[in-house]
Formats: sequence, structure tokens, C-alpha cells
Amino acid sequence: MNKGEMLYEGKAKKVYLTEDPAQAWVEYKDDATAFNARKKGAITGKGELNNQISAFFFRFLGEQGIPHHFIQTLSNREQLVKKVAILPVEVVVRNRVAGSLAKRLGLEEGMTLSVPIVEFYYKSDELDDPLITEDHIRLLQLATTDQVNQMRKMALDVNGHLQKLMAAKGIQLVDFKLEFGLDNEQRLLLADEISPDTCRFWDTATGKKLDKDRFRRDLGDVEGAYREIWNRLGGEAHD
Ligand code: TYD
Repeated sequence: MNKGEMLYEGKAKKVYLTEDPAQAWVEYKDDATAFNARKKGAITGKGELNNQISAFFFRFLGEQGIPHHFIQTLSNREQLVKKVAILPVEVVVRNRVAGSLAKRLGLEEGMTLSVPIVEFYYKSDELDDPLITEDHIRLLQLATTDQVNQMRKMALDVNGHLQKLMAAKGIQLVDFKLEFGLDNEQRLLLADEISPDTCRFWDTATGKKLDKDRFRRDLGDVEGAYREIWNRLGGEAHD
């Protein structure tokens, strides 16, 4: 398998073509951004840690029956995935109040939600990724009603599986963001990444934040927090 032409460079990853049109080569970068790239920096070791953490979560979710794009890791910071057309909708699941939910609704950070909630955001840098309703998704034709229903169900299933996995490692899954894509046969697959960049993880015993909030809020030792997540997951590379 060879790395072909670069297809896309995002904030945290580069995506390349391969000789197989159904597969893409993803390289995780150390670059970090927050607040729609208004805050920029780099976190040493992040690319390698997120590549391996995300691979771990996708493998685990695959074992639980969630269809996804991940194929295998290629190196410490690279992985092979099924090429998908990413739907321009970010799906956020929340178990406790944090971040934009605290701000938007004036709720106290940390409040536990009696049932998990799902939110949709429109992936648009120009518009600053606004919160949208299912009617907005239909209006803008970002996804079909059926796809929205599938995304909601898969997101809640992912939440159940990840919450249980992380609880056993002494970590609370506060919230996270998922992205979905369509493969050649128009099948909806879980895609993108699942890592401390895209989840909030709080240590159960101490409440310590082990995720990108350490970067967003200048809390220090960002790399140590990401490494702590990897270590709690077992910390062994596969493939
Ligand atoms: P949220 O509280 O909405 O936003 P912010 O991170 O700006 O406070 O984020 C909820 C969860 O989803 C959190 O774990 C971070 C993740 N997320 C992303 O990974 N990317 C995004 O573009 C957004 C909006 C959220």
C-alpha cells in the first residue's frame, strides 16, 4: 500500500489517496486548534497518541457491532480507512454538562444528565459550526431522515459502549463528537476519529480533565493527559 496524492489537510489530520480507490491513508498531526482555529498550537506526541487511541476505540466499537471506516494502523501516526464521503453534520452526545451546553443554557458544568442527549452541528467553518435541528438538516439536505435516525441511534449505542469501557478504566465519558460517512454502497459508517481531541474524559477519582480542555483552557500537561488515556486503555500498539 502506498501513500498517494494528498486529498485533504484538516486541523489535526492529513488524508491521502491510495492505489485502492476505496481506501484512504490518514496521518495524524501534532497540531492542535480550538475555538474554530482561533487558538492554535502543537501538542508533542498527540498525533501518535490519537492515532492509536482512535484505532483502539474503532476496533472495540467494531467488536460491538458498530459499522465503521477503520481498517488498520500503518505506523505510529498513520492509519488506513475506508474512503467515505463525510456528511457535513457533527453529532455530539452528552452525559454531563460541559463546554458549549453550559454556556448556551446557563447550566453548571458537571451536572449529570438523567438521560444522554444528542445534538447536531452543521460542519461549516464559515458559519462557526452552528447547532442545528433535524429540520435544518432536511432543509439544507445535509442528510436524509433515515440517515439522521441512524446517526442518532448509532451515536447513543457508541455512548453506551464507550461509557461502560471507560468506566471500567476509572474514567467518566462526559461528552464526545462523532462524524459519519457514506461508503461506495451508500452505507452509513462511523468515521473520522475518537480521541481526547473529540471527547471529554474526567478521571472518576479526582475529576481531573484528561482531554483537549487542558489545551483549550491552558491547564498544562496536555500530552500527559492524552498519554494517561492511552495507558489506561492498555497502551499497546496493534497491527
Ligand atoms: P462542545 O461543548 O459543544 O464544544 P466546545 O468543545 O467548543 O466546548 O463539545 C462537545 C464535545 O464534542 C466535546 O467533547 C468536544 C467535541 N467537539 C469536537 O470534537 N469538535 C467540535 O467541532 C465540537 C463542536 C465538539
